[in-house]
Amino acid sequence: MRILVTGGTGYIGSHTCVQLLERGDEVVIVDNLSNSKEIVVSSIEKITGKRPVFYRADILDREALDTIFTTHGIEAVIHFAGLKAVGESVSKPLEYYHNNITGTLTLLDVMREHNCFKLVFSSSATVYGTPASVPIREDFPTGGTTNPYGTTKLYLERILSDLFVSDDRWSIALLRYFNPIGAHESCLIGDNPNGIPNNLMPYVTRVAKGTLPQLSIYGNDYPTHDGTGVRDFIHVEDLAAGHIAVLNHMTDAGVRVYNLGTGVGYSVLDLVAAFERATGIKIPYRIADRRPGDIAECWSDPSKAERELGWKAQRTLEEMCRSAWNFEKAN
Ligand code: NAD
Ligand code: WQD
Repeated sequence: MRILVTGGTGYIGSHTCVQLLERGDEVVIVDNLSNSKEIVVSSIEKITGKRPVFYRADILDREALDTIFTTHGIEAVIHFAGLKAVGESVSKPLEYYHNNITGTLTLLDVMREHNCFKLVFSSSATVYGTPASVPIREDFPTGGTTNPYGTTKLYLERILSDLFVSDDRWSIALLRYFNPIGAHESCLIGDNPNGIPNNLMPYVTRVAKGTLPQLSIYGNDYPTHDGTGVRDFIHVEDLAAGHIAVLNHMTDAGVRVYNLGTGVGYSVLDLVAAFERATGIKIPYRIADRRPGDIAECWSDPSKAERELGWKAQRTLEEMCRSAWNFEKAN
């Protein structure tokens, strides 16, 4: 299939491009490089032996998108492009709504003009807000997002559902990711945030490397087994495989929603211990105040994806830690 991957040089997009190329799809990437580097295109080529077509362009740029659809006869889109820093979204709501929502509206309009109606959208577990219970199923209520970033995902899910109601040629998958971590086994692609990381795993790997002195654990008084926050960490390669699985099932029109997680919740301290076991490196930490907006527990019931798509996350927490560390060392 000829697939346009928006945000394809980013963290999850690059891993997905690798798996698409490996199974023989033609991959066209559009990315404005606001949070990634062009070298990733060469890394994807090194891993797969195939070079994806790359356009440095913005999804807000209608003309650029139009040229891409005309030139390549795109049959499906996997839409990763978006701004994703929770804290930054609170201070820059207009930038987040414009980039994520207007950008997606532009993309959808161009898709429609070119009769391309197949879309896989990167949503997030953040759309569940503070869930009433865990594990979280897809039929749990959404809403109650606590930051503009999360609200863009919530609104976009709604917009995409409305779109299908208006025109039943659309085939749309809303994939709610939990906490992707880890890196490709080649160590050529992975999560490489600029500046001081906001997310747990890249912070841990930088402490392991000595770039940062110690980890601050945000709260140890949550109602969890050891008081620290519990999340559903999923290896990015398993997450990428979820996109392939869903594409294989998008033969009919409709809007389908899947949780992509492992179904197991690990705490921050569990992750630190797993990292130490996997790498032999001690992670110094201190207990800090809770981070505003954090919830105690967030983990999935991923059984719908297994039942309907035949997809299940395979890799262990130790494997996630080891690959994240190998990537950090190599970069
Ligand atoms: P990322 O920042 O590594 O990748 C996103 C890519 O999109 C970047 O390469 C960036 O340069 C590009 N981009 C941003 N705005 C663009 C625009 N207007 N035009 C063209 N390119 C643009 O992020 P990621 O972790 O790979 O996340 C991919 C998607 O998955 C995002 O939509 C994100 O919100 C979503 N998501 C991520 C996580 C996570 O924890 N990483 C969890 C849930 C959902
Ligand atoms: C995980 C746990 C922290 C850093 C975020 C977004 C979410 C989704 C995934 C996109 C929490 C704790 C963290 C640190 C810590 N992204 N922590 N010290 O907050 O679950 O999810 O990324 O959709 O929308 O909110 O991930 O990795 O930031 O935090 O103690 O230095 O680690 O408090 O319990 P989070 P995270």
